[in-house]
Amino acid sequence: MEPFDLLITGGTIVTHEGVAKADIAISGETIGAIGAPGTLGAAKETLDATGLHIMPGAIDVHVHYRDPGMAHKEDWDTGTAAAAMGGVTTVFEMPNTFPPTATPAALADKFERAKTARVDFGLYGLLAEDNIDQLEGLIAGGAAAFKCFMGNTTGNLPSPSTGAMLEGFEIIARHGHRISLHAETASIMAWRQAKLMEAGKNAPLDHLAARPAIVAIEAVQRAASLAEWTGARVHVLHISSADELRPLREAQARGVDITGETCPCYLMLDTDDYARLGPVIKVNPPVREPHHKAGLWAAILDGTIGLVATDHAPHTPEEKRNPDIWEAGAGFPGVETLMPLMLNAVAEGCLSLEQLVRISAYNPARAFGLAPFKGRIAVGSHADLALFDLAAETTIDQAKLHSLRARITPFHGKRVKGVAMHTLSRGQFVMKNKTLVEASRGHGRSVHRLQSMPAPKPLRVEQSLSHLLGSSRADGTTLADRKA
Ligand code: NCD
Ligand code: ZN
Ligand code: ZN
Repeated sequence: MEPFDLLITGGTIVTHEGVAKADIAISGETIGAIGAPGTLGAAKETLDATGLHIMPGAIDVHVHYRDPGMAHKEDWDTGTAAAAMGGVTTVFEMPNTFPPTATPAALADKFERAKTARVDFGLYGLLAEDNIDQLEGLIAGGAAAFKCFMGNTTGNLPSPSTGAMLEGFEIIARHGHRISLHAETASIMAWRQAKLMEAGKNAPLDHLAARPAIVAIEAVQRAASLAEWTGARVHVLHISSADELRPLREAQARGVDITGETCPCYLMLDTDDYARLGPVIKVNPPVREPHHKAGLWAAILDGTIGLVATDHAPHTPEEKRNPDIWEAGAGFPGVETLMPLMLNAVAEGCLSLEQLVRISAYNPARAFGLAPFKGRIAVGSHADLALFDLAAETTIDQAKLHSLRARITPFHGKRVKGVAMHTLSRGQFVMKNKTLVEASRGHGRSVHRLQSMPAPKPLRVEQSLSHLLGSSRADGTTLADRKA
């Protein structure tokens, strides 16, 4: 038998189900064997992981890498370097670039730009008012998921009408791809922001005043109704408030395939941090009052929020520090600090290691069609592994971030317990001994070919626009054929 390519010995494996001391052998891109310490025989190369915890590489379904159009903030090389350094082995990248990823041509162009990716990636296609006729083409072109901006944010993409959303959901539901939602209702925010601006208000907390939790409650409720009606799978991005959990829970209880994510800033920051951080804390949706944090943590523990993601949103330090809050950049880089921050939360007793694997890898893989290749440590799965020293402590230093043009984070100076030591993507080191592996540039691959997203049982097909207008289904059959 061929010897294994790499043997990882002496470490402690963490999966969504448990923690155990075990060795891992890697053959090519996949895990070839898992066994009791010292039982797996020889390999071409050995990594001594004594004292380290080995987790499935994190899957961050929410990053913005800015190329094309805003590469002065970030690009694929720097953005995926940051991922590799943070133990993140798969990213899903957002379509609010210039031009947005709204057509098959724009998607093909983004695939070209992503050729420098160091870790695996999925590309989001946009669902907007004016590109409903492009959705099938985006799927054929390799979009891994869709993004719908229900509210304005970086890129100023207008929110589609509820009518366009409904038809978009109908079309995408036939293919099973998940639709991720920026769930803030545009008209409420625009109304409030205009009044606040008229009154001359432009302080960091005025941004929160323009976006109270009702904007998220209303959007989640509306999106859940459309998902329930069409059978579309949906995902609520960056859950910031305890209040939007009610419509989310109600929809989940009715059987709607609706998942939710939150981000470290909503779990770890609150209104008490605005004075200290100024416009650096600006993010859409905003960081809220302290009581929301407890509600979000409870929702992680009871499974309502199944995913943690970063909303990695790089802006230059100058863009972030604009004293006019309406002009300051919204969001901050996060993909490099996600796992250290979450492991620190484990050390503080907020959740268990297994729960962290569930929300950072196992659940994202299942929700976005990457299981069983990713999100688990199992024979045959991709050798996407993140090795951490849970006893080591470090201070987050924005000057050391690999998002080279966006070295600014509200977590600058925070002491965390849990340091990323090595990252492997499909069997290759992309970070080794806390150092980026330069040769990892270009190693990343699109995940869309792995996806198995069988369409859910179609609902209300008779009332869908394509049926009423007599257009055929994407699979070439008409509803009449299917009934026959
Ligand atoms: C994101 C960005 O800058 O692209 N900003 C943010 O404040 N979250 C956009 C978004 O996710 O809404
Ligand atoms: Zn958003
Ligand atoms: Zn985002």
